[in-house]
Amino acid sequence: MSQADFVVVANRLPVDRDDDGGWRRSPGGLVTALEPVMRKAEGAWVGWAGKPGLDLEPFDFEGTHLVPITLSAEEIQNYYEGFSNDTIWPLYHDVIAAPRYRRVWWDAYVDVNRRFAEASADAAAEGATVWVQDYQLQLVPAMLRSMRPDLTIGYFHHIPFPAYGLFSQLPWRRQVLEGLLGADVVGFQRVADAGNFARAVRRQFHYTTKASGITVPLEDGSTRNALAKAFPISIDAESYIELAQRPEIQARAKEIRESLGNPKTVMLGVDRLDYTKGIRHRLKAFGELLQDGKLSVEDATLVQVASPSRERVEAYIQLRDEIELTVGRINGDFDTMDHTAIRYLHQAFPREEMVALYLAADVMLVTALRDGMNLVAKEYVASRIDNRGVLLLSEFAGAADELGSAIRINPHDIGGMKDAIMRAIEMPGAEQGRRMRSLRRRVLEHDVSDWSKSFLEALATAKR
Ligand code: G6P
Repeated sequence: MSQADFVVVANRLPVDRDDDGGWRRSPGGLVTALEPVMRKAEGAWVGWAGKPGLDLEPFDFEGTHLVPITLSAEEIQNYYEGFSNDTIWPLYHDVIAAPRYRRVWWDAYVDVNRRFAEASADAAAEGATVWVQDYQLQLVPAMLRSMRPDLTIGYFHHIPFPAYGLFSQLPWRRQVLEGLLGADVVGFQRVADAGNFARAVRRQFHYTTKASGITVPLEDGSTRNALAKAFPISIDAESYIELAQRPEIQARAKEIRESLGNPKTVMLGVDRLDYTKGIRHRLKAFGELLQDGKLSVEDATLVQVASPSRERVEAYIQLRDEIELTVGRINGDFDTMDHTAIRYLHQAFPREEMVALYLAADVMLVTALRDGMNLVAKEYVASRIDNRGVLLLSEFAGAADELGSAIRINPHDIGGMKDAIMRAIEMPGAEQGRRMRSLRRRVLEHDVSDWSKSFLEALATAKR
């Protein structure tokens, strides 16, 4: 089998399977980000094809060698829905939902992580660089290092890393830290995440940390250095600008506003349907503004795109019921024949439609209770080539560290959020322009290729 000098390991492959069995590149940001790197390096990508029991041979797709990992229905339940998304996800998002600690889930997580590590070890050439992605694969770095000490191993953590007081709930906290410390560079979204990780390592193992470096003792009595540092992820800003400039997408934006009855203000929320996103808090604030008479449905409509996600995990099933009940109540109380309070869409849309929505929205609501980064905030900003529109941004999203010119909100403070929404709606054009220009400068100057470049440079330096 051919081996690659650059290997990406992620829970999901960068392709989706059509109904007719063909493959299409997934629309995600990571895939777009790494596409040029993969092509240049003739890289390999190890990941799951997203369906139970699908057993496929490795194949080439648009310049990337894809190595599919098979997961049985039971492994999907225990490793993906269970440990990844019902233990780690809620724990790392500050226990917004209660994490469940189940030993069978942990066992499956260990087994599946080992399978990913073995496949990566097979796919990597002598001295190759392997880049492991995200919380589903925290044990892979150390497993891979013990199988293949010649490799340079990076890990990027796309979600928050919690404070030690929460992290220490995890019955397998030592194993997880050991797993991550197998990487030469452990990358995080925010400086605070890297700090939480370093603190956890100090508390658990009493290792020395200096600046971003962690001294990891080895069995032979020597040490190695692991770097734990922030590399905030971004988007392919140019591609959003290009879409926003297209006349047909601008026309579509107008059409969307018209179909909503041309309200003065269109507000927009775009999220995976996830309890970390603060969708309920947002609906509560908007519903109260209608109730108070501060807004009417002729003046303001909220478009809420909530794309389906992890639909077999109990907390997500419950959340969907709650949100749909609330939307139904608000619309029932306030809709007229011509206007709706909330246009709720439990669907995913192609990027073209998303950019049209961004262009149609006067106010973008990002009200996450906790979020690693939140790329929707950056997508909105990149799409606003007219320098108009207002971004409301939760201080609990990683993006808040970079996007200082947004209106910051604390989504737990419903009163404060209502005031912020009114301020956004009433913001004069000049102030919108000033803020949006500054937001755009940041997003355009730091796009996703800068992100991958700076991570991979740090990784190359660390190994040397
Ligand atoms: C977050 C995670 C990703 C994950 C994505 C979609 O952004 O950081 O690792 O791929 O959500 O979730 P899913 O469970 O559908 O892969």
